[in-house]
Amino acid sequence: MAFKVRIESSGSEFAVAEQETVLGAALRQGVTLAYSCRNGDCGTCKGKLISGKVDYGRYNEKAMSDTERRAGAALFCQAVPFSDLVIEAKEISAAKDIPIRIMPCRVMQLEKLAHDVMRLWLKLAEGQRLQFLAGQYIDILLSGNQRRSFSLATAPHADEMLQLHIRHVPGGLFSGQVFTKMKERDLLRFQGPLGTFFMRGDDSGESRNAGGHGNAGTSPDRPAILVAGGTGFAPIKSILENAFAKGTRRPLSLYWGVRAKRDLYLPDLPQAWAGEHSHFRFTPVLSEPQPEDHWNGRQGWVHEAVAEDFPDLSRHEVYASGPPPMIEALKRTVMEHGLPPDRLYYDSFEHAHASAP
Ligand code: FES
Repeated sequence: MAFKVRIESSGSEFAVAEQETVLGAALRQGVTLAYSCRNGDCGTCKGKLISGKVDYGRYNEKAMSDTERRAGAALFCQAVPFSDLVIEAKEISAAKDIPIRIMPCRVMQLEKLAHDVMRLWLKLAEGQRLQFLAGQYIDILLSGNQRRSFSLATAPHADEMLQLHIRHVPGGLFSGQVFTKMKERDLLRFQGPLGTFFMRGDDSGESRNAGGHGNAGTSPDRPAILVAGGTGFAPIKSILENAFAKGTRRPLSLYWGVRAKRDLYLPDLPQAWAGEHSHFRFTPVLSEPQPEDHWNGRQGWVHEAVAEDFPDLSRHEVYASGPPPMIEALKRTVMEHGLPPDRLYYDSFEHAHASAP
């Protein structure tokens, strides 16, 4: 039996099929709610149940506490309605008109950038282009209904070939294939673009108070701090290359946290950006520099480096992409330093996503 969902603030309505999640149904019908992991891990899709009942599904308690749930919160990537619902949820207008498609592509090049990072260059079929927002991701579709999510590392204007940065995960289904068996000319299929991680206020078309993790007060002039952990650099690269191409003048500060120097897999690229753009600054941060690194730069955790350099974040926006522990630590720290919660945008990635949008 299908249920009806209404978003109170916008009046948008959509139907949810049996056993379908609220987010899955919304995306299927062209209503773009804020989301990232679709696993119940990141909390991006958290909204409020105003009326109606849901099965809350499985989720990480870091994404939603019991107190929040008792106060009416729900994670819409997991929540399956038991009745008609009225909800409050963040709608993302900028991603709304971009179709999510399933497309074939060909592996054009495998480029080992570091001991455990491969850059995949993918080409679409003749005459095809992927429309996306800088910072979004795609799902590579695998046999057995499995999928793996990777951020697009290219900016939308450089769409001749798509670029993914794949970290080798021991025992990883797809990354193992990339590092051992994959060859140039292999064919893949993907679904995308997905997610709502993109820079607000430039040319996104995103209006104030329209969603994300909140957009109140986004401004194209506001200083932005971009924080990457490991291959979380991929969507940040896309966002920055897009910003440079559009001539953004807002101050941009990139912090890239990795373990040791060998993990900075494209070290010259941000250095080159810093040479070309006076409003851009790059700070690499190593958590465990090795003796052979002869490292004189910043050491420690990347969120601590941000807090040291920006004790007052009340005028900033922060964009972060990396593994969940980095995002959790960063969230706490930037809030303690005065960042308004509605100006934190993040992409918290695990290496496997189970559910389809
Ligand atoms: Fe729902 Fe991450 S918890 S999108």
